Amino acid sequence: MNILAFESSCDETSAAVVSVTESGFEIKSNIVASQIETHRLYGGVVPEIASRAHIEAISRITYEALDVAKTALSSIDVIAVTANPGLIGALLVGVNFAKALAAANKIPLVAVDHIKGHIAACYLGIDAPTPPFIALAASGGHTSIYLVKSYTGVEVIGATRDDAIGESFDKIGRIIGIPYPAGAGFDALARSGFIKATGSEDNFYSLYKKSAAYKNADMTLPSPAIPDGTLDFSFSGLKTAAINLLHRYEQRGEEIDRELFAARYTYEAVEAVAKKLDAAIKAHPGCSLAVSGGVAANSHLRARLAEVAKKNNVTFHVPERSLCGDNAAMIAVAGYYEYMSGNISDSSLNASAEDSK
Ligand code: KG4
Ligand code: ZN
Repeated sequence: MNILAFESSCDETSAAVVSVTESGFEIKSNIVASQIETHRLYGGVVPEIASRAHIEAISRITYEALDVAKTALSSIDVIAVTANPGLIGALLVGVNFAKALAAANKIPLVAVDHIKGHIAACYLGIDAPTPPFIALAASGGHTSIYLVKSYTGVEVIGATRDDAIGESFDKIGRIIGIPYPAGAGFDALARSGFIKATGSEDNFYSLYKKSAAYKNADMTLPSPAIPDGTLDFSFSGLKTAAINLLHRYEQRGEEIDRELFAARYTYEAVEAVAKKLDAAIKAHPGCSLAVSGGVAANSHLRARLAEVAKKNNVTFHVPERSLCGDNAAMIAVAGYYEYMSGNISDSSLNASAEDSK
């Protein structure tokens, strides 16, 4: 079975062809047209510009995805498209394009939830998780913990009550001079900070808590893990405390060590996620751990969560880095499972900015 999928929920327009055979999923093409350079000028995504850029790119990248996959439209069995959540104008471009293509070519259409798409990226690896499992979706818009009950059924068991982890990296990164989106730059800067704090090139993360840099009271930041027995987070609290910390340095006329600051911020963010996932695993015996979304590319998060899984004796699943960010191959995989469950859409399909209920 060949699936043609579209993703246009934020600032990447993507089209992919994924084929499903008895031996699993094969990505035949996964074209991602990024708008990052355009939005970087403004320090974040400008929704109207995003919609326009999706319109300009979608037709071209569809041809490209089919060309690279050496697959004709007549060999496509299912069209899958991200229908929610995301920027409404951006989503509408993908949804309307997919609807038109499906109707004109009489191909079944399936709607995909973007976050279920991120989780589905974990099914593309050789070592795919099998439901039920615990999944973290960490992106620019989400920091949620799910109990994945089946290939199409998920339950939110924890979430941020305000900002998302990726959004917080982007906002704080911008203040310390990392271009948008700041995630990857933050990751690298924190690495230098951990190495500087511990004097070690390997295993630096675990040594960090014992370092003088960690004990420096001027750099104290609160944990975004809400201490109330839930699996919820507040990344806005961490972000505000970090902004105040940066201001204090500025008022004293002192230059902050950006590397040590990035390490400290990353440490608090990662430890909070590790703590809540550890609790989630303990509350759901028999579940393995999967991590997805743009922030799943973070090297410190990946390493720390692998450790959490190991300590709990459960398997750890994370997509390869190139499949952590927004892409249509993950939407194809989620679309496959929706199709197999009979969740077919028609021309009344609409986009929605909201999370699925
Ligand atoms: O999933 P995604 O591509 O788009 C959304 O659905 O939001 O996630 C984008 C987010 C951005 O906030 C970006 O800064 C973050 O993922 N990100 C990272 C890393 N690479 C991307 N955050 C931390 N470390 C990274 N290496
Ligand atoms: Zn995403």
